[in-house]
Parts: sequence; structure tokens; C-alpha cells
Amino acid sequence: MTLDVQEPTSSAASSHAAAEISITGLDKQYKTDHGVTHALSGINLEIAKEEFVSLIGRSGCGKTTLLRIMAGLVPPSSGEVQIAGRSLWKGSTADNSVIRNLGVVFQEANLFPWYNIADNIALPLKLRGMGKRERRKRARELADLVGLGSFLENYPRELSGGMRQRAAIARALSDGPDLLLMDEPFGALDAMTRDKMNLEIQRIALATRATVVFVTHDIEEAAFLGDRVVHLTPRPGRIEQIVPVGAARPRTYEVQTTPTFTNIVAGLRSALMKEEEEQS
Ligand SMILES: Nc1ncnc2c1ncn2[C@@H]1O[C@H](COP(=O)(O)OP(=O)(O)OP(=O)(O)O)[C@@H](O)[C@H]1O
Ligand SMILES: [Mg+2]
Repeated sequence: MTLDVQEPTSSAASSHAAAEISITGLDKQYKTDHGVTHALSGINLEIAKEEFVSLIGRSGCGKTTLLRIMAGLVPPSSGEVQIAGRSLWKGSTADNSVIRNLGVVFQEANLFPWYNIADNIALPLKLRGMGKRERRKRARELADLVGLGSFLENYPRELSGGMRQRAAIARALSDGPDLLLMDEPFGALDAMTRDKMNLEIQRIALATRATVVFVTHDIEEAAFLGDRVVHLTPRPGRIEQIVPVGAARPRTYEVQTTPTFTNIVAGLRSALMKEEEEQS
């Protein structure tokens, strides 16, 4: 099952393209009753239009925080996020008109329990006024894509965690987002489904010309999908290194056997392990 979108034609966005997202001097401190957590510090990152950026780093290094700031959900303490040249944050208020069409997949699926899977998937389409018949058709296509074609009438509580996550992915894709922010979207999936989704997400991202920021714990997945891999290091979260992957997208699993790819993965793994040793 493939979505009704054109086949990919463009290769990876080059670093020479105009920045779609420009993050400058971003800092985030969470203030709680127990004190202050410095989650992000001095984050500078430029992301080109149609680029696919993977974000890796140990648990608690600020990946979700960065994504939530970019999604307009959590205000930064200082610094700037510009999307297509416009500032997303005015103090602690997000100007959501800056993000034209956003798709977000959170770490937890957070579907609406009182809607069935079809209605959950098609919710963004309903919100922008698409008719019911067209919504149903689109929901069916997307459900097929993520292997939930026979669960359209089911409610989220009747699905497994991985199935709920796939429904959330379908929902994020439903309105053809031009910015797709994904927080460990495939973490709960079995290996085979994950492999399939890794191929599909590339095809969809290229065909819809989406700019993607993709958080994962999995170094191979990060390198397989990303034009660049951004490695965040914790306490406070800072960018440790940005590694270009170089291979044109879409990629097939053969790329994983190339020396360039294995070197990139080995380099990232040793950097993460070094961090682990320093912390312990
Ligand atoms: N709402 C919050 N209030 C207070 N502290 C928070 C909040 N959200 C995150 N933090 C803190 O900010 C830091 C970064 O958390 P974040 O969720 O961004 O990490 P992460 O890299 O996504 O981790 P994981 O890989 O486990 O999902 C952590 O120390 C966490 O305790
Ligand atoms: Mg997280």
C-alpha cells in the first residue's frame, strides 16, 4: 500500500539551501518545586527545507524538549526559533501562524480515547473542514499504510501500544505536513514493522517535501534516515556534534553495509559511549 503521492525526485537538501528552520542561542530551564533543570543550553541549528534531521542522545538530554519548543508547545527560556524567516516565539507565546502545516508524533501516542481510529487519523482533516467521505477515504489509505486497515472502527484502548503509535503516525501524516516533528515514533514497533516504516517515512517525506526532525535512541536508524545526525549531550543539553550522512535519499538497507555508513555509526556509537563513561 502506498499513499497517493508523487514518487520522490529530490535528493537530500544541501546545506547551501536556505534555512527553513533557524535555531539560535536556544536555552531552556524548567523550574519545578524541586529546583531548576537546565534542559537545553546554547542550541544553534539550521535546518534546510526538505532536510531530514535525526536527533540522538541519551535519555534526559533534552530531545523532547527541543522538539516541543519547535512545535510551539513549550516556550524557550531564551533564544530564537525561526521558521521560514519568522520568529515562532514571542516571549512565552507561540505564533502558530509561523508553522504552516505541522505534523507531530509524540513519544506516547496520545490519541483521543472517545474517537475511533479512523476519526483519530482524520482529525486534522476534520479541523480544516474536509468532508466526511473524503476523510474516510484518506483515513483508510493512511491506516493501510501503517498496517491498521482492519482497525478503523476500533477505539484506542482496544489496540496495543505499537498499534496506537502507528495510528498517531498516520494522523501526523494525514494533512501532508510540511514540517514533521517525530519523537521516537518507531520505538514501540516490532523490528519488521519498524524496517517497513523506515522505508515508508523516507518515501513520504520526499514525496510530500516535508522537512523532518526525527528523534531516536537508535544510532543505526538515525544514520539510515537522516541527511545529518545531530548528537545532543546531556546536563544541560548541548549539541555535541553534527554528522552529515551524505548518501542520497531515499535509501535502501544496502546503504547500511557500505564502509561510509558503518564508519558513521561506529563514530557516533563511540562518542555516546565516551559520554556514558564520563558520566559514570
Ligand atoms: N515538564 C517538565 N518539567 C520539568 N522538567 C522537565 C520537564 N520535561 C522535561 N524535563 C527535564 O528536562 C530534561 C530533558 O528532558 P527531555 O524529556 O527533553 O529529554 P529526552 O532527551 O527527550 O529524554 P528521553 O530520551 O528519555 O525521552 C530532563 O532532565 C527532564 O527531567
Ligand atoms: Mg524524550
